Amino acid sequence: LIHPVVLCGGSGTRLWPLSRKALPKQFAPLVGGKSLLHLTLERLAVLNADITCVTSEDHRFLVKEAVENANATGLQILEPVARNTAAAMASAALLAEPDDLLLFAPSDHHIPDAALFARTVRTGVEAALAGKIVTFGVVPSFPSTAYGYIEAGEPSADGRSQAVVRFVEKPTAAVAEQLILHGGYSWNAGIFLVQARTLIAALRGHAPDILLACERATAAVATDGSFLRLDRPAFEDCRADSIDYAVLEKHKDIAVVKFEGLWSDVGSWNAVASLHPADDAGNRLSGKASALNSRNTFIHAPHRPVVALGTENLIIVDTPDAVLVAGAGCAEQVADVVRKLSLEG
Ligand code: GDD
Ligand code: MG
Repeated sequence: LIHPVVLCGGSGTRLWPLSRKALPKQFAPLVGGKSLLHLTLERLAVLNADITCVTSEDHRFLVKEAVENANATGLQILEPVARNTAAAMASAALLAEPDDLLLFAPSDHHIPDAALFARTVRTGVEAALAGKIVTFGVVPSFPSTAYGYIEAGEPSADGRSQAVVRFVEKPTAAVAEQLILHGGYSWNAGIFLVQARTLIAALRGHAPDILLACERATAAVATDGSFLRLDRPAFEDCRADSIDYAVLEKHKDIAVVKFEGLWSDVGSWNAVASLHPADDAGNRLSGKASALNSRNTFIHAPHRPVVALGTENLIIVDTPDAVLVAGAGCAEQVADVVRKLSLEG
């Protein structure tokens, strides 16, 4: 039995003005009126197990609603403050049984083929039961600086996975180019299959302070229906770091399984745009949008008519209280602008 654990405590500002503190992108309806979290829960349902979500106290009802809407069941681990993925994963592992096989999944990805996803995950089971942290590798398409890079080495005896030679988290543009030219690297999909005790041992080796803080936070956990509240003072004391920097870059016993299907991190408006079909002129429209005499224009307009006339290479995002109009080449700069203008809330 594989126990899915969904990480849904992130707050992406690259999708402003849709993604806000009160409604981070994983909760916003983005694809066919469903949120990415909802779609993630539906995808994980094929594993036929309760789904644990790790999220912030502030978003507990949004998560609970998504779990109910997706007809899923399971507990929600609540973080009093965000301490990044190492602490979120450590807490989930400590609250599981040591032998449990955990599948950590991000809440903000688009993976349309659920059956292929489930088959790929099952391909990693033997390696995970043999004490490895199993990662999933996606064929890289450009030298992105937003992903982890995995160098695959020797295939396992059963041929189902490969040993990981090197893991490089979010390289600089120059290093990313070198890795792509070198070949043999895949992008880290951000999905991990690992036994609880393997992850705990790896944290003890590479990030003992994070493990200790999470041991304290989970020892004093308070149960409230399906909510499990981590102890605030203990969790506040925890260092914030991602699992990629805290463990994966340092750990020796990692395996990688190839993921062959469509995968998108939905990290920017260009990524959201690519989820919508393009017309003959490359326009991608959602909701109440129209584009006339326009080319390569993406419009997100769920609430009211938005019309683009004679536009080219534009991203237009309409929300009830803020509008974004950006050049198609500027999608990656949205987070910086939002920070500079203090528009986070
Ligand atoms: N519970 C909880 N608490 N979840 C969190 C927290 C937190 O403090 N921080 C982030 N998350 C969730 C996010 O909501 C997302 O679903 C997932 O954990 C990954 O976090 P991101 O912040 O989106 O990570 P990233 O995209 O920068 O990098 C990771 O994913 C890439 C693939 O998308 C890394 O694993 C990269 O190596 C990988 O390539
Ligand atoms: Mg991400």
